[in-house]
Amino acid sequence: FQPKLLAGQRVVVTAGPTFEAIDPVRGITNLSSGKMGFAIARAAQDAGAEVTLIAGPVSLPTPRGVRRVDVKSALNMRLAAVEYAQAATVFIATAAVADWRPATAADQKLKKDGSGATPQLEFVENPDILAEVASGPRAIEGKLFCVGFAAESHDLLAHATAKRLRKKVPLLVGNIGPATFGQDDNALLLVDAQGATELPRNTKLQLARQLVAEIAKRLHSH
Ligand code: C5P
Repeated sequence: FQPKLLAGQRVVVTAGPTFEAIDPVRGITNLSSGKMGFAIARAAQDAGAEVTLIAGPVSLPTPRGVRRVDVKSALNMRLAAVEYAQAATVFIATAAVADWRPATAADQKLKKDGSGATPQLEFVENPDILAEVASGPRAIEGKLFCVGFAAESHDLLAHATAKRLRKKVPLLVGNIGPATFGQDDNALLLVDAQGATELPRNTKLQLARQLVAEIAKRLHSH
């Protein structure tokens, strides 16, 4: 009998984009299909974990057995992430969180006034959810293993290494370009304190299963 790789683990995954309202009918968002995060949630569930999937606005079916929490904005996602991370043992941030949000959201639809004048939007920075969870007490005490993702257009290894240190996560996963938004396959670069390993191009579900195995390996050694 072989116990499942993540038996007894409580895994929280953030996935998809966030949506930052400008007014009741408009907003800004990021390109993200959520497919990688959903695949990881499914793979973690199949590996025996109890999984909570915190999803921004995406149209994907919930993997069987996974608890799904739908959120819209980065602030909503942060609240849910901080709450569910409190009891988690693994936190995997795949969400493409908007870096900025409009400083205020109008409560009525902005109207054209006929003069050609355009709205002047002001932005404020959103909180870095992963950095916050990864520097929280559970992670510091070694009870919560945090994994970040990076999508870069160039110098992936250098950026992923820097991001790993900046966000204080033991494992940072780079998307090996070209842009994989919406695609069913991807290739990943795993960066940890020991160096970098490539997971060659494969379906997102197969990569998610390999990533789960890599996380399980590190859980038992950290
Ligand atoms: O800094 P950057 O956005 O490139 O970092 C990407 C990683 O950080 C991803 O794991 C993403 O889910 C996470 N992140 C976050 N909150 C933010 C920005 C990024 O959790 N506001």
